[in-house]
Amino acid sequence: MSSNFFYLRKYFFVIELDYSIIEHVKCCKFCFYLVFLKSMKSPALAPSLLSADFSSLEKAIKQIEEKNGQVVHIDVMDGQFVPEITYGQPVIRSIRKLTKLPFDVHLMVNFPEDQIKSFADAGADWIDFHLEATNHPHRVIQMIHDCGKKAGVAINPGTPVSALSELLESADIILIMTVNPGWGGQKIIPSCVKKVVELKKIREEKGYNYLIEVDGGVNAETLSSVKDAGADVIVSGSAFFNDTLNWR
Ligand code: DX5
Ligand code: ZN
Repeated sequence: MSSNFFYLRKYFFVIELDYSIIEHVKCCKFCFYLVFLKSMKSPALAPSLLSADFSSLEKAIKQIEEKNGQVVHIDVMDGQFVPEITYGQPVIRSIRKLTKLPFDVHLMVNFPEDQIKSFADAGADWIDFHLEATNHPHRVIQMIHDCGKKAGVAINPGTPVSALSELLESADIILIMTVNPGWGGQKIIPSCVKKVVELKKIREEKGYNYLIEVDGGVNAETLSSVKDAGADVIVSGSAFFNDTLNWR
């Protein structure tokens, strides 16, 4: 427990630890981290590297640490599931050594089942795949868990929460896309924010444990709506790196 405790202390200045939670969390530090994030009163900030200056990723990661980022969100695009191509395992492997913050790898790729192990080996801590990109989402969650990582299921704006019903029990994170995936700097789709409220209600009713993460179009104007809806983790790319987010 103590190493987890010190790990967290390094990144959070105000920590109200519930020791009953600690007692029940005996697995890896990131499992603890998920429980911790969910128990926090305010959401965690996950800056997206997509809007960083790719010629200096080290500087971008320093900015994330200095400006209260708690998770590094890494958008992987394959040119098929979405039109553009970003970066993959080699880049993740080389930036892994730059920070101890968890890497939240958002796979916007078709057939994510072919990529899980290599992203886990490259240094991903959370692996989010798209429900729309695979015929076997339940198996993909199992594969991520078999690698000892946290499994996130992402849904596009056109996919309803009901499509997730058979996965909610085993997923660690539900990633709600509040823009169509593929690009940073788009406008939030307000109707997608309602999915957060829906997921929160289901989590309470069924006693599930997933974190609710929101991705896309979060800026100084839209941040409060996402916070008010009850998101646990908030991704921000362009507003974070433009320094216009006004997080605190
Ligand atoms: C879009 C990505 C997002 C993107 C968000 O497909 O999944 O993570 O970086 O960028 P902003 O915050 O600029 O909408
Ligand atoms: Zn993303």
